[in-house]
Amino acid sequence: MMHRILPRAFSSNTARLSRTATASKSTLSQTVQDNDPPLPKMPPFDYAPSPYTGPSAEEILAKRCEFLNPAIFHFFKNPLCLVEGKMQYLFDEKGRRYLDAFGGIATVGCGHSHPEVVDAIVNQTKRLQHSTILYLNPAIADFAEALASKFPGDLKVVFFTNSGTEANELALMMARLYTGCHDVISIRNGYHGNAAGTMGATAQGSYKFNVVQTGVHHALNPDQYRGVFGSDGLKYAKDVDEIVTYGTSGRVAAFISEAIQGVGGIMELAPGYLPAVYNTIRNVGGLCIADEVQSGFARTGSHFWGFEAHGVVPDMVTMAKGIGNGIPLGAVITTPEIAKVLTYRSYFNTFGGNPVCTAAGHAVLRVIEKEELQQNALTVGSYLKQRLNSLKDKYEIIGDVRGRGMMLGIELVTDRLLKTPAKDETLYVMEQMKDMGVLIGKGGFFGNVFRITPPLCFTKEDADFLVDVMDYSLSKM
Ligand SMILES: Cc1ncc(COP(=O)(O)O)c(C=O)c1O
Repeated sequence: MMHRILPRAFSSNTARLSRTATASKSTLSQTVQDNDPPLPKMPPFDYAPSPYTGPSAEEILAKRCEFLNPAIFHFFKNPLCLVEGKMQYLFDEKGRRYLDAFGGIATVGCGHSHPEVVDAIVNQTKRLQHSTILYLNPAIADFAEALASKFPGDLKVVFFTNSGTEANELALMMARLYTGCHDVISIRNGYHGNAAGTMGATAQGSYKFNVVQTGVHHALNPDQYRGVFGSDGLKYAKDVDEIVTYGTSGRVAAFISEAIQGVGGIMELAPGYLPAVYNTIRNVGGLCIADEVQSGFARTGSHFWGFEAHGVVPDMVTMAKGIGNGIPLGAVITTPEIAKVLTYRSYFNTFGGNPVCTAAGHAVLRVIEKEELQQNALTVGSYLKQRLNSLKDKYEIIGDVRGRGMMLGIELVTDRLLKTPAKDETLYVMEQMKDMGVLIGKGGFFGNVFRITPPLCFTKEDADFLVDVMDYSLSKM
């Protein structure tokens, strides 16, 4: 039976999208009735967090409000205080366990505090924490070699940064220097960072400030759910031809895109789009940049990099998040020929490629391989997607289930035909799921897409628990 959207314990105007992402007033205890089925049970996990002796959640929140920039926002009406993590689980200050299906925003791939990554960090920190690239050290060289071995073609030389924004800034600058052009094309609804160049490439109004952002054109989003051409990638690709024709001198510096838009709501670009666009861009002298900040490092399961599913080989690839399992690290890989442009002046990054972060990155590659995390992302991710699709058959509010591996999105709509974003309901379900011990993310231009990007060690039992909890929450609306 298909459930209609009937918010029972929820009124849509109680849960406006606010800076604090506050959800409805309904807590789980307010919605559970005597004759309800028992709540789903979290899979057992043989680990006890250490006793927490720090300040209370209320004290931490008060300090945040007083001493941190008010732009720093949080999920949930009562923000969650997380003090320990182990693999796919997180613990709050009271020792309560949560299943982490967001992975610190698609970042924790190997699992929280994975022992091998922690050992690499601790051992390197004890030996030498910082030296800069002005001196030789094996950590950066060994990791660069291992990372380069994961790429096709002539993608061979790496520059390490501290974040995804920095990696994309550098890639855009290198493309501009290499081509001698300024114009860049990115896709609407994409997210690439928030510094001078990357804010220009980011094409979601809510992440754009009214500051100078020059030289970026935003192409039609090849959005398979809401886009005007459905899944016909070639039709969307024509828009890039038109941007070149009408909006540029006829030459461009670069095209940058994610393979699966992460912040934009786990939207996989329509098939056929990237090969056609890469062709157009190369014909006008531009470089193709793949932003793998979210979709890289085996997350998609079918491939190690998101772009591989589209049958293209970029000229530059940018990475961050999953590269370090949570340690601040980013990177740009490109060909030796393109990389040379950085030698024309001095380019330096104090922490980029520091021994501790690169030792962690190297450990991440070893763990992904040893624990066959890509295969697990594929097997468990496909199973999870299939179970989420069965929820779609049951609940009309689920308009779309999409993504691949452990990068999945569920879009909620109040009307399947009109695709009206169910923003308040999204917050409500997130809050209820948190109360039942499952953390998921949200995104999409309208804030109505659940983002499921767990650590890649997520198990089939975790997937069942997540879906059972989501099912329970949806049944309460
Ligand atoms: C696809 C993508 N690119 C770039 C970035 C920016 O990375 P960072 O927040 O590390 O600067 C993000 C962050 O969410 C991202 O999702």
